[in-house]
Amino acid sequence: MGRKPNDSESSCNTSLILLLVVLSSCALVYLFLSVFLTPSREYYSIHVEPLEFLEEDAIAGEENGACCRGIENMELWGNAVKWGSDFKFNSSEECCKACKAMCSGNDGPCLCDSWVFCGNREACGSKFGECWLKKQKDTLAPQRQDLGQKVSWTSGLIFGKGEGIVGFETEYGTLHIKLFPDCAPHSVTYILELLTLRHCAGCQFYRAESRGLSWDSEGNHIKNAPLGPPFALIQGKLEPQGITFNKIPTEVCPIIRRGSVAWIGSGPEFFISLANHQEWKNAYTVFGSVLPEDMEIAEKIAQLPTTPDVWNNINVTVLKKPVPFSIQRIKKSNGDLNGM
Ligand SMILES: *[C@@H]1O[C@H](CO)[C@@H](O)[C@H](O)[C@H]1NC(C)=O
Ligand SMILES: *[C@@H]1O[C@H](CO)[C@@H](O)[C@H](O)[C@H]1NC(C)=O
Repeated sequence: MGRKPNDSESSCNTSLILLLVVLSSCALVYLFLSVFLTPSREYYSIHVEPLEFLEEDAIAGEENGACCRGIENMELWGNAVKWGSDFKFNSSEECCKACKAMCSGNDGPCLCDSWVFCGNREACGSKFGECWLKKQKDTLAPQRQDLGQKVSWTSGLIFGKGEGIVGFETEYGTLHIKLFPDCAPHSVTYILELLTLRHCAGCQFYRAESRGLSWDSEGNHIKNAPLGPPFALIQGKLEPQGITFNKIPTEVCPIIRRGSVAWIGSGPEFFISLANHQEWKNAYTVFGSVLPEDMEIAEKIAQLPTTPDVWNNINVTVLKKPVPFSIQRIKKSNGDLNGM
């Protein structure tokens, strides 16, 4: 008897819930579309900031040689070139530097290409401070022993001269990209994962803007010229179909130089810069750099036919025909790769 009003109330609640579900999924779809249609909202906001040239020294200090980062809660395997049981440090940076030190002095590959450090005093116990230096069988496919909160090790990769280079293969040529695992370990781990897929369906460049009259062929800004548009970059997406993309955390964000390969926000949108963009300051995680001799391929893509568009009040140019690419591992011992 007394149930009836309750029943109708509950069905009312049900329809209310249904309505909410519909509304929130609309909101989700809208959110998705708005993000999709303006792939780089974060990216544009900084273009309007006033220019403030930094001292060359400040820029030099940002160079990737200074980075020594690893990934926490991850243990890399591999043959030890230096046992950690009697090789101890107080910080992962020192362990990383010890690995790097085995690279200097010659042009060959590093004797050490990975390090594993136990830095959690409680979890490591007597192993605290142990620094194991290792050499992977395959530098581009490091052996991961374990990953997760319970792992008390921190691990990192070091790519010496001529190592750690991947190719973004387009119909206009292959962009050789030197990866920076010591500055952007999470980003590089993601790229190495893509490498194991052996396809990158959906990976493409979709935006292309030349240096215009604002930057010279070395990427230097021409005095008093505007800072774009065009913005001197090619922009694309690194998210193959069929994988779940996890946001990349912010890593080291140096000044963008000609050749820099950087995420827009937390990816998977990224760009390759054709110019030195001091005016963008330290806004983007840089995870690699195009080898100088391949910049002409990037320039070629930047000259392809485009259509103008406006994203968040910024004039952009979008490729009429996106340029798909695949990611290839690059064999070592390619003489002219030794410069990087
Ligand atoms: C680590 O730090 C302790 C004290 O904080 C110091 O006594 C020790 O020498 C340091 N070890 C190394 C390898 O730097
Ligand atoms: C964007 O393009 C429009 C039309 O071509 C032009 O009037 C406007 O000045 C441009 N804006 C900027 C910031 O260059």
